[in-house]
Amino acid sequence: MTTITLDVNGRTVTAEVTPRTHLADFLREHLLLTGTHIGCEHGVCGACTVEIDGEIARSCITFAVACDGARVRTIEGFDDDPLMARLRDAFSTSHALQCGYCTPGQLVAARDLIRRKCLEPDLDIRTEMSGNLCRCTGYAGIVAAIETVAAEAPSVPTLPKERWAGPAPGPGAQPARAATGAATGTASPSVRPPTPGPVPCARPTMPARQVKVEVGPVTIENGETRFTQSFVLEHRAEAVWELMRDPARVAACMPGLALDPPGQDGRLAGRMAVKLGPITAGFSGDGTMVRDDDARRMVIEGRGSDRKSGSRASGRVEYTLSEAAAPTGAPATRVACVIAFTLQGPLAQFGRSDLVRDLVGRIGAAFAFNVDARLRAPDAELAPAELGGVSLMLGVLFGQIKRVLERLLGRAS
Ligand code: FES
Ligand code: FES
Repeated sequence: MTTITLDVNGRTVTAEVTPRTHLADFLREHLLLTGTHIGCEHGVCGACTVEIDGEIARSCITFAVACDGARVRTIEGFDDDPLMARLRDAFSTSHALQCGYCTPGQLVAARDLIRRKCLEPDLDIRTEMSGNLCRCTGYAGIVAAIETVAAEAPSVPTLPKERWAGPAPGPGAQPARAATGAATGTASPSVRPPTPGPVPCARPTMPARQVKVEVGPVTIENGETRFTQSFVLEHRAEAVWELMRDPARVAACMPGLALDPPGQDGRLAGRMAVKLGPITAGFSGDGTMVRDDDARRMVIEGRGSDRKSGSRASGRVEYTLSEAAAPTGAPATRVACVIAFTLQGPLAQFGRSDLVRDLVGRIGAAFAFNVDARLRAPDAELAPAELGGVSLMLGVLFGQIKRVLERLLGRAS
């Protein structure tokens, strides 16, 4: 059991939970907040949508332990919220509910949408709300209700008056919210919320140059996930190897990774911080490296564990550099990686092949971007690299949702 303390609807709650207890179960069974409904339990239907630190999230796939210290708001926490009251009325007059099972999730998601995008001239409510499924209404009433409230929203004093389509304010925006009353969780009318989450690459100080990363098929055998990844950098192989033969410089470019100085025997120790939406984990561990300067090849093996969730990970990364040519004909270097890892414990759900493929593609792109930036301006100060954050998770989820919709539409036609 793990002790967690979190703020739920403005009330501080301390409880003992097992590491695998989902937030939805915790809210419903420990706190009896049964307004949060559970439908698919796979993060697809949106019935369990709640706010975590000002951002909406699926409570059925969020571990309660990952919300330690967070501020959670369920449908019951919006009783005094004027925007939610307006949405409830509009749902009622537009016949936007029948059985009402999906309605709490629809309302939480709709309120978030209006707060963020009510001033968008081409707001596509159907697409924006496609993460919340309803088996009764056919959606027309839901869309009409949200349209009505979105049209009125610019006159609601607690909503932003400037056109802004960014994410909902996250933890970083809390001081601004405190000034207007954290109990309502509404955004300040005059303060544009800062973009939450870490920046995974060097954009603040380097001109952007994206590097295309190719990810091979992901296979899972005996619990081990394996895949290949490669990318081409427009730099000479000697320069790329000079950087990539040094584990400390590699770690500086890898989102979320921090290494201690290597020991005499090639042993490495370090930490990997992971933040996937509301889920955070910190793996500590050690490993070994074997370097072959002639072949420009490095093999790093390691293992670690996350004390908080009880997850364990072990893995092996092998990369080899070879000379290549850029599309312009300039000398370039292909970096070919073979990666294998196993995950055990609650975070093992992220070992699913489709999720891994999306995630590693994005991590690889951030890594390649950082290496390229380092090589172009070795003295430039790079932003601290961290793994995860809202943009990474949204990108992964967007890819997942798109594939699910494509499958469903393919079946329907
Ligand atoms: Fe959580 Fe369906 S129950 S998304
Ligand atoms: Fe019944 Fe939406 S009203 S599922």
